Amino acid sequence: MSYPYQIRSREAYDEAYKRSIQQPENFWADVASHFHWRRRWDKVLDWNFKEPKVEWFKGAKLNITENCLDRHLEKLGNRPAIIWEPNDPEEYHRILTYKELHNKVCQVANVLKNNGVKKGDRICIYMGMIPELAIAVLACARIGAIHSVIFGGFSAQSIADRLQDAKAEFVITCDGAFRGQKDIPLKSVIDDALVACPFVKRVIVATRTRTPVSMIKGRDVWWEDEIKKIETLGMTDCPAEEMEAEDPLFILYTSGSTGKPKGVVHSSAGYMINTNYSFVNVFQYQPGDIHFCTADIGWITGHSYIVYGPLSAGATTVLFEGVPTYPDAGRLWDIVDKYRVNILYTAPTAIRSLMGFGLGPLQNKDLSSLKVLGSVGEPINEEAWHWFDEHVGKGKCPIVDTWWQTETGSILISNLAGITPAKPSWATLPLPGVQPVLVDENGNELPAGEASGNLCIKFPWPSILRTTYGDHERCRTNYFATYENKYFTGDGALRDAEGNYRITGRVDDVLNVSGHRIGTAEVENAINMHAGVVESAVVGYPHDIKGQGIYAYVIFNGRHGDDQSLTRKDILVTVTRIIGPIAKPDKIQFVSGLPKTRSGKIMRRILRKIAEGEMENLGDTSTLLDPGVVEEIKNGHL
Ligand code: WTA
Repeated sequence: MSYPYQIRSREAYDEAYKRSIQQPENFWADVASHFHWRRRWDKVLDWNFKEPKVEWFKGAKLNITENCLDRHLEKLGNRPAIIWEPNDPEEYHRILTYKELHNKVCQVANVLKNNGVKKGDRICIYMGMIPELAIAVLACARIGAIHSVIFGGFSAQSIADRLQDAKAEFVITCDGAFRGQKDIPLKSVIDDALVACPFVKRVIVATRTRTPVSMIKGRDVWWEDEIKKIETLGMTDCPAEEMEAEDPLFILYTSGSTGKPKGVVHSSAGYMINTNYSFVNVFQYQPGDIHFCTADIGWITGHSYIVYGPLSAGATTVLFEGVPTYPDAGRLWDIVDKYRVNILYTAPTAIRSLMGFGLGPLQNKDLSSLKVLGSVGEPINEEAWHWFDEHVGKGKCPIVDTWWQTETGSILISNLAGITPAKPSWATLPLPGVQPVLVDENGNELPAGEASGNLCIKFPWPSILRTTYGDHERCRTNYFATYENKYFTGDGALRDAEGNYRITGRVDDVLNVSGHRIGTAEVENAINMHAGVVESAVVGYPHDIKGQGIYAYVIFNGRHGDDQSLTRKDILVTVTRIIGPIAKPDKIQFVSGLPKTRSGKIMRRILRKIAEGEMENLGDTSTLLDPGVVEEIKNGHL
C-alpha cells in the first residue's frame, strides 16, 4: 500500500498545512479519494459550532472494515495484521494475517447477527487485551453496531452506568483477563453490573483465563460455541453493512469536570480518514513497519492507534496483553527485540516508571529496529524525554509528542517524525487541517506569536466528536459554549514565536493520573458514598511517576474513631467499588472543615496549593467563612 498523502519533507508539510487551511474541503476530499467507498459524497463539509453540527462527506457510503480488511486482502492478505504478545512471556504468541483477521471478524459478525444484533444497536465490550477484543470491535463495525469499549479497570458500578446511558442490550466479555500478576475476573464483574441492567439480552463470553464463571441460562453464551454454530450453519463470509458517512461508529466514555462520564460519539467516515492520515504522517509509517502502541484498547489511543489507524493503513500492529513491568521492567524492550518493532508509542508515565529501574533492564536488548518513538496522554517532562531519546532511541529516533483527546479522535498537534523538528516537552505544530487558537480568560483570541492561554480549535477536522450520546446539549455546553464558535479543549497551552504549542495541562477540574482522565467531581461523589463521609474535596498534586496524584480532603464522622488507617482503607474500597482502582486517592487527609466562601463554594485553589506543598502565598483567604480551617489543613498536610 502506498500513501500518496504522506508528507515527506518540511516544505511538503508547510504546503499541505497551507492548503488545508485555505481549501479544507479540497484538501480532505483528496485524502478521502484514496479510501474505499461504496458511494462517493455529495458534500465534503457542512458545519456550525453553534448547535454544534459537523458533517463530513455527507451522502457517502462505506464500511470502515472494508477499508481496514477487505481492501488489503489481495496484496497484503498474508501480511501480519495483529501480532499478539501474551501477558506471560512463556506462553506462545499469536499472529493474525489480514486474511485470518478478516475471516475471524466475519465469523464474529455473523455470531452477533445470529444473536439478534442489528445495525445501530449498542454493544458494550469489556475484555482484556487479547486478539478477540480487536476482533469484537471490528465485528461490530462490520454490521454497523455501535461499540462501546470499557477499560478492564472499571468497576461493576461504572459499567452499569455506561450500559444504562448507552442503553446497550449486548455485552461481549471474557471469563477473565491476565494483567501482570493479576487475574481479573471480568465475567463476574459483568454479572455484578448486570444486576442493575435487566435490559441486557445477551452476554457473549470468550475464554481466556478459565476462571470459573456463572453462565445465566437464556442470557449468557460462550464465544467459542457461538462460532461453532455459525460454522454448522455454513455462514462463512459476512458482507459489510453499508454505512452512511455520519453513522456513529462507536461511543467511548470519558471523564469531564462535572458529574458522570460522557459518551463521546465518533462517526464512520471522518474518524477513519483522520486516524489513518495522522497515523501515516505523524509516525511516518512505511509499508512493512511493525507498530507497537502500548495503550489499552479501552482508551481512545488504543482505538485509533492499535486498531483503526494502523489497520486502515495495512500496517502490522502489536497488541500486548500485559504491563511494562511484568515479569520485569525489561518487558517492553523484550517485545521490541522479539518482533523487531519499528515504532514504539507509549505514555510518559510508563517511561518515568521504567526510568526508576535504571539502565539494567535495557542491557542486552537489541533495540536497533526502532525508528520512531511516540508519547501521548500527558505532558512529557524533559527528563523523561531525554531518557527516552538517549536510552531507548539511542539518539537516532525522532520522538513525536502527540497531543489529542478522546473527543478529537485523532492526533491534532504533534511533530511529524523526522520531518518537522521536535522540541522536548512541546507537542509543536498542528497537523494539516487543524486550526488551534489560544484565548484569554475573557475569550479573546490571542494574536499569533508568543502567548499563553486556553487552547481552542476554530475549525472542524474530520474526526471531531459529533455528540455526547443521548444528550447533545451536554456536548454543546461542554465543548462549544465556553467560547463562541470554537471547540474548547479544556487544556492550557503556551505558544512560541514559531507557532509551536506546549500543552501545560487541564484548566478544568479534570485530573490526569498516569495518563488516565479522571474528574475530581467523580472521585468526590464516590468518596461521599461512604456512609461515614460528610463531605470531601479532591484535587491533583504533582506525582513523580503518575504525573498527577489524587489528593482527597475528607470530613469523616463515621466509625473507627481514631484509627485513620482503617478509615482510609474503607474509603479506598468504596472508590474502587464505585469507579475502579484507577481512581483511588493517593493521599487522604481528614479535616474538620473545608475552606468555603460565604456563598458555600469550596476554594479549591487553596486546597490545590496545600496539596502541592505550597504553604505560602495561599492568596486572599479573608473572604473565607472560617479562615481558621486553613491553618488546620496546613498543619495536617500529608
Ligand atoms: C492530555 C488521550 C500534553 C491533555 C489521547 C488532554 C496531553 C487529555 C498530551 C486527553 C500531550 C494528551 N501533551 N498533554 N502530548 N496528550 N494530553 O481523552 O490534558 O484520555 O486534554 O486522550 O490528555 O486525554 P484522553
